[in-house]
Amino acid sequence: MRKIEKCAIIGMGLLGTAHADELNGYHGINVTAVCDLYPEKAKDWAEKNNASWYDDFKLMLSKENPDLVVITTQDPYHTEPLLACCEAKVPFVLCEKPLTTSVEDAIAVKDAAQKSGTQIKVIFPNRLFPLGQSIHLLISEGYLGEPKYGEMRIDDNISVPLNLWGKNSKNFSEISSPAYFLFSHTVDLLYYYLAPRRVKKVFAVSSTGIIGSRPDYLDGYLTWDDGTITRIKTEWTKRIDTLVENYCQMTCTKGGFTFNMTTGFKKEEGLQIFIDGPKENAENAQKRLKHFGITAELKSFTDPIESYALEFSPDVDGNDFNWGDGSRVYADSFMGKDSQLSILTDLDGGIEQVRVVDALLRSAREEKIIEL
Ligand SMILES: NC(=O)c1ccc[n+]([C@@H]2O[C@H](COP(=O)([O-])OP(=O)(O)OC[C@H]3O[C@@H](n4cnc5c(N)ncnc54)[C@H](O)[C@@H]3O)[C@@H](O)[C@H]2O)c1
Repeated sequence: MRKIEKCAIIGMGLLGTAHADELNGYHGINVTAVCDLYPEKAKDWAEKNNASWYDDFKLMLSKENPDLVVITTQDPYHTEPLLACCEAKVPFVLCEKPLTTSVEDAIAVKDAAQKSGTQIKVIFPNRLFPLGQSIHLLISEGYLGEPKYGEMRIDDNISVPLNLWGKNSKNFSEISSPAYFLFSHTVDLLYYYLAPRRVKKVFAVSSTGIIGSRPDYLDGYLTWDDGTITRIKTEWTKRIDTLVENYCQMTCTKGGFTFNMTTGFKKEEGLQIFIDGPKENAENAQKRLKHFGITAELKSFTDPIESYALEFSPDVDGNDFNWGDGSRVYADSFMGKDSQLSILTDLDGGIEQVRVVDALLRSAREEKIIEL
């Protein structure tokens, strides 16, 4: 088991500062250096936490010799620091989603990581929520039969691209888009729920015209290698009373589920999984989840199909996860402490996600189905 003692952060914006706070002092990790193009952002955190600060990540890597680097620059700016970490032979790198915004960059990162032996993982915190982990577990162990058709949407309030990064919001929304910022989550999460299935072909439409990001919204279909079809949509132009809306529903041969990952207008957070009878199927699923500390209430529905619902609330102990602890789970996994349900996105998973989002964008642009 490898120890992580020195950690450095590249990009001290919203997420960089949050991860620096989460990791500093956690399980023997010290955040010893932080870097931002705007040095005052790095200096501010460094002075409060007795760390060094830089505005040049290559200089930081050469001087600080970190065991772990966390990359939290904006979506299209992950590649250069990733390559520099490989060049500097950093053992562990944690990159915010998405890994890159092009397939070519993702492959260049893979080549560099193979040469240097750098282990790279991509932070997708949605995988860490026990309710979503219940879906992954019950599908992978066959409790729902075969998945057939589903939909997932992850949308942001229009205030995200217009306001979240203060006066830099316009810049962020111009260099990113809901494809990179949000569809990355959608695709990664579906890969987790449906593992080991892979996307075989995609079709998408997209457009702009609300705030002018390219695109403002996308709607697509993923066909998986076992024939499962998932409809996915994303926009960051939504007028809603929450910051994010995240929803997934799926129909399987022996059941299905509805998952409200966020609250919304007249909507509560929670998960309902239906499992067809006999009743012991649902009871066994309930026991299996209890083994992982997840609690579900069992209810019966007998018309027209004998079916049993497992209902999950995030308010119950063991059913929720603190979003802010994501980077700690990833750091633990580098140190060999994996939890059985937290299958984290490794480099190949990150590349696969980039390939699917790239294909969706290409499909929308060229108005045709893209085979992967
Ligand atoms: N995991 C999640 O759910 C989640 C949520 C929000 C954002 N993110 C991701 O986190 C990343 C960062 O988002 P954010 O909201 O913190 O953005 P941000 O704009 O607040 O921070 C990015 C920082 O990186 C700095 N930077 C850019 N290029 C640099 C370089 N070459 N060297 C040093 N610093 C550089 C910028 O100056 C900025 O301070 C994005 O990829 C985003 O998609 C993930």
